[in-house]
Amino acid sequence: MINVDISTAVGGLKLKNPVMPASGTWGYGEEYAEFYSPAELGAVVVKGTTLEPRQGNEPPRIAETPAGMLNSVGLQNVGIERFISEKIPFLRENKCIVIANIAGGAIDDYAEIAKRLDAEKDISAVEVNISCPNVKKGGIAFGVRADTASAVIKSVRKAYKGALIAKLSPNVTDIVEIARACIDSGADALTLINTVKGMSIDINSRKPLLPNSTGGLSGPAIKPIALRMVYEVKKATGADIIGVGGIECFEDALEFIMAGASAVQVGTANFYNPFIMPEIISGLKAYLEENGISSVKELIGVAAR
Ligand code: FUM
Repeated sequence: MINVDISTAVGGLKLKNPVMPASGTWGYGEEYAEFYSPAELGAVVVKGTTLEPRQGNEPPRIAETPAGMLNSVGLQNVGIERFISEKIPFLRENKCIVIANIAGGAIDDYAEIAKRLDAEKDISAVEVNISCPNVKKGGIAFGVRADTASAVIKSVRKAYKGALIAKLSPNVTDIVEIARACIDSGADALTLINTVKGMSIDINSRKPLLPNSTGGLSGPAIKPIALRMVYEVKKATGADIIGVGGIECFEDALEFIMAGASAVQVGTANFYNPFIMPEIISGLKAYLEENGISSVKELIGVAAR
């Protein structure tokens, strides 16, 4: 059996393995710490943080679908002050590589949060959320146009010196155009993809099941869409990519890596299997050993034609 290396790098950020949670599916790591140490992960991506605390959307916020889940959480979070004072200490004590997902209703909000995080040595990167489909202001509204996506990324770039990752929406006509705009505006890497806008109707009330009417679809239903976008963006831009969308096993993770992702995020699967990420890490290692591949980096983008 050969010695294998599952370390990777994304946007200049070195990771001991390519696996991390998708923002919003793992809170701040505290709840999952009873199952395993968060330090086992390549990184921890925390729930989207806004300038002020947010209560989120009216319940119900979740609807099951045959091959996935609709969510309309509405960026409930504790706000930047409490994130720094209450959440960072746990992540520091557990020696996590922390990627802070940030969101805002205005471009200045993003810049202000980024400035605050620039002063926090325990934060290794920011993931700029211009793709949340569940808020009335900001979020996806910035991410569906190249000019607004670019304006947000430029403002964060000015305020934040560390690794800057832009999290993009699949709800666009041309993902490559938005990806290019973000990279040209100073993003070091991209996370592809956030959820696909969808809905569900309650046939008894004859109204949308989610009070917000629509939600973001995640889970296995969106994996082929996500893979296609990772593949297209990698081919067109060569950018470092974190792939996300319906990953449920190490084989799914490998598909994303072969499509061009340098790392992967696991979202919906965390809800039904709290051990899914360590299982994927072990699976990747075993695949490399069994196939005589010394580094996972050798597989990034190998599927390109
Ligand atoms: O509703 C939410 O909090 C979802 C956020 C996101 O998809 O980025």
